[in-house]
Amino acid sequence: AFNIHNRSLLSLMHHSERELRYLLDLSRDLKRAKYTGTERQHLKGKNIALIFEKTSTRTRCAFEVAAYDQGANVTYIDPNSSQIGHKESMKDTARVLGRMYDAIEYRGFKQEIVEELARYAGVPVYNGLTDEYHPTQMLADVMTMREHSDKPLHQISYAYLGDARNNMGNSLLLIGAKLGMDVRVAAPRALWPNEQHIEACNAFAEQSGARLLLTEDPRAAVQDVDFVHTDVWVSMGEPVEAWAERIEQLLPYQVNPALMQATGNPRSKFMHCLPAFHNSETKIGGEIAAKYPHLANGIEVTEEVFESPACIAFEQAENRMHTIKAILVSTLADI
Ligand code: CP
Ligand code: NVA
Repeated sequence: AFNIHNRSLLSLMHHSERELRYLLDLSRDLKRAKYTGTERQHLKGKNIALIFEKTSTRTRCAFEVAAYDQGANVTYIDPNSSQIGHKESMKDTARVLGRMYDAIEYRGFKQEIVEELARYAGVPVYNGLTDEYHPTQMLADVMTMREHSDKPLHQISYAYLGDARNNMGNSLLLIGAKLGMDVRVAAPRALWPNEQHIEACNAFAEQSGARLLLTEDPRAAVQDVDFVHTDVWVSMGEPVEAWAERIEQLLPYQVNPALMQATGNPRSKFMHCLPAFHNSETKIGGEIAAKYPHLANGIEVTEEVFESPACIAFEQAENRMHTIKAILVSTLADI
């Protein structure tokens, strides 16, 4: 059955291809309405809680701007200044916030926590990133690929290189499997999504007609692809000590000009959910570059690729807002 109203968005596992396409079409319509000054507010009087246990630029701002554009109010909750976690369980927090707010966004460590929140809140809960999934990012990624391709969704191909066991790796495999796309994931086997997740995605692919390839060979993965994605090699919540091993494991998967050449497709685009370490200007980027001089020009992606016309990461970032708006409107509007 098709019913998006009042639904939580926790992983995308339980959304059908039709529901995902509906959200993508609505995102496109809302983007167009904003650009042409014809946007109508569907969320007047709604209140949305935004809980962030990890830092954020895009996700927080996208939720805030999307809500304000639509006439809703938001409360940003930083666990350091609330009772969450140290004095109050997620189950109790859910039952409190659910009585005041129409919806809750949660970014945090464990997927189980966002699921518990959804179980007890009684209002829609949106996963703004956990260790396992980043579902709101997926809608923006597919929206951006669609905008930069003249092919139907089923024919679009993309590769993801890097840590394929993190939220982005899991989610990019899943969304492509659901939407019938051509998905290639390249990583050392130790960093592939877990078996159970791969099996679930293979089952979705059988229904949708998606082609899924998991490989340790970055060049085989990018052959002829339309889009090359990557992400940070060490995610939020992982120890800084993880860097040494990751650099060793993932250096062959760095997106550099040679790798982009290996697509054989001069029109292939580069994508990244951001933040990206594409030079040594950030604090962590600088520390890594001091220790590993060969990474001064970028870690998971080099400066040449990031600053080239192939990079569409900022279009992708903008689309976070339009897609999150579609999620809010479709789940909360009284229409
Ligand atoms: N891509 C993304 O989720 O960015 P933020 O961490 O800035 O929200
Ligand atoms: N995998 C990254 C994504 C950031 C948006 C992280 O979890 O830190």
